[in-house]
Amino acid sequence: MDGNGRWAKRRWLPRAAGHRAGVSVLTPLLETAGRAGVKTLTLYAFSTENWARPEREIKTLMKLFMDTAREKVPELNERGARLRFLGRREHLPDSVLEAMEEAEDLTSGNDSLDVYIALDYGGRAEIVDATRRIVADGLSPEDVDEMTFAGYLYAPDVPEVDLVIRTSGELRISNFLLWQIAYAEFYVTDTLWPDFTPKEFLRALESFGSRSRRRGGV
Ligand code: IPE
Ligand code: MG
Repeated sequence: MDGNGRWAKRRWLPRAAGHRAGVSVLTPLLETAGRAGVKTLTLYAFSTENWARPEREIKTLMKLFMDTAREKVPELNERGARLRFLGRREHLPDSVLEAMEEAEDLTSGNDSLDVYIALDYGGRAEIVDATRRIVADGLSPEDVDEMTFAGYLYAPDVPEVDLVIRTSGELRISNFLLWQIAYAEFYVTDTLWPDFTPKEFLRALESFGSRSRRRGGV
């Protein structure tokens, strides 16, 4: 979810205000996802590279995750969403980890919409972590195919990604779900994340629906 900083800058506001504005679009978008029949939605909230940001901004973001979890998790639970987190867990503050585990436990029985939050997530880190676990489990080369490998990713039940939406006009992947996006369609928009509306979300879904996906065939 890119563009919070630029959204704030355009308004002469601190970056934190942009991040807060970015949170406020979540509820309407999740509602729209549910109504449109989306089954799985992954939000890229914090990457392994984001630790390079100034400490103050990281603190602000962690606090925002906590506040957002407190506010949105009961709401998501009521709507039948199952919440899961993707990423490394060893660098996040304990308070954030606790909130994540609580949210996962509370919503584990829900099945109307799977919401994944990528937090301290990197696609390369995920592939390295999977490889480490394969080696630790002592698999031999002939045991490892694409199916077994996928089973070692952070959330093996995450389906292959159909559509990636990238806000704020950047034409890059930024280490997002590298394994899972092999055949994903892309929708890039100049809209900054805090300005991303349900209407544009539906436009992205429509655009996806009109594409012919041949997956290397003819
Ligand atoms: C994305 O917005 C939010 C996070 C990485 C948490 P940015 O902070 O990257 O916004 P820009 O790129 O500065 O506009
Ligand atoms: Mg950015």
